[in-house]
Amino acid sequence: MSERVVLAYSGGLDTSVAIEWIKEETGAEVIAVAADVGQGGEDLEVIRERALACGAVEAEVADARDEFADGYCLPALKADALYMDSYPLVSALSRPVIVKHLVAAARKHDASIVAHGCTGKGNDQVRFEVGIGALAPDLRCIAPVRDYAMTRDRAIEFAESRDLPIDVNKKSPYSIDQNVWGRAVETGFLEDIWNGPIEDVYSYTSDPAVPRPADEVVITFVAGEPVAIDGRPLTMLAIIEELNTRAGAQGVGRLDLVEDRLVGIKSREVYEAPGAMALIAAHRELGRVTIERDLARFTTGVSQRWAELVYDGLWFSPLKYALDAFLAEVNSTITGDIRMTLHGGRAVVTGRRSEESLYDYNLATYDTGDTFDQSLAKGFIELWGMPSKLAATREQQSQQVRS
Ligand code: ARG
Repeated sequence: MSERVVLAYSGGLDTSVAIEWIKEETGAEVIAVAADVGQGGEDLEVIRERALACGAVEAEVADARDEFADGYCLPALKADALYMDSYPLVSALSRPVIVKHLVAAARKHDASIVAHGCTGKGNDQVRFEVGIGALAPDLRCIAPVRDYAMTRDRAIEFAESRDLPIDVNKKSPYSIDQNVWGRAVETGFLEDIWNGPIEDVYSYTSDPAVPRPADEVVITFVAGEPVAIDGRPLTMLAIIEELNTRAGAQGVGRLDLVEDRLVGIKSREVYEAPGAMALIAAHRELGRVTIERDLARFTTGVSQRWAELVYDGLWFSPLKYALDAFLAEVNSTITGDIRMTLHGGRAVVTGRRSEESLYDYNLATYDTGDTFDQSLAKGFIELWGMPSKLAATREQQSQQVRS
């Protein structure tokens, strides 16, 4: 039997051409694997048939939307994960779930190589290959665009010369990656970082500047997991989808970011993640009400580290697993309701309610019913400030000695 390659297949020009290209380059048989992570667009069956028509010996497609929402978006929400305080890791989250499907297909079809369509300049090549190495150290990875110089022009030429059944004219001026957690857009005129994004760049969100009535939503969480919208119990996937629609209609979750890629390049990416950004804002706020102060302060650093690890392709790594265990503990009290107003590009929290609340009205109030003993504050401040006072006194004395 000849060698077998499992290819991460999207149905687009590059990976369709890659099937035949890999065959000619390596002499191996190609098995195409596509996963639906909520990117929308073509039917999975159409994608499967195209892979076969382009020369794949087998083609497998999987509806991975619930798996992605429950196993990848939810942990990111529990971590309030925002890379560089901004980017909700849209593409970085989808790679590990695709990796799982690639490795499973490689085992099933006895393949020894996994191929992907990434270039040599981005983060995604790292995420695929480090992920595959972590789950299946014996598999080898190839990337035709990077390793066999399969440029776009050469790909089009190749498709025409081999008569491959692909529409080579379907060329967008942007490079887009999208899934249910959000959408990333780069290249074209956006590469000049002084150029502002035009409306044409966006598809998950409407222009926030257009006047329209506000939308109010109540999100219910249990142990950090959103379980209902406006009292209707829903799956994680359905919750993200509904908030993509409702927050998207209000222009929530647009982002224009110059980010630090793992490979050292600074790049500009425009994102829209209405559901993710609304959920993170709600989850964060509920945490502010239910998480004890020192734990909350410490968790900020954990969130940042978690986001960096996932951005850097280390989803399947010991530190990331350990932080997940820590975050499970942190999330155990994030239970309750958050009310938000979605309007004018913002998701603004207007109410919180929780059985786990550490907010004590009687301690916080300035009205009658105050149970806080203000006389204790004086002594507390005395002791709290004692180390600074001692240091300042020493400073004063040594200045007197010097002068
Ligand atoms: N910069 C993002 C990341 O590294 C998105 C990458 C894919 N972007 C794209 N427009 N194709 O996670």
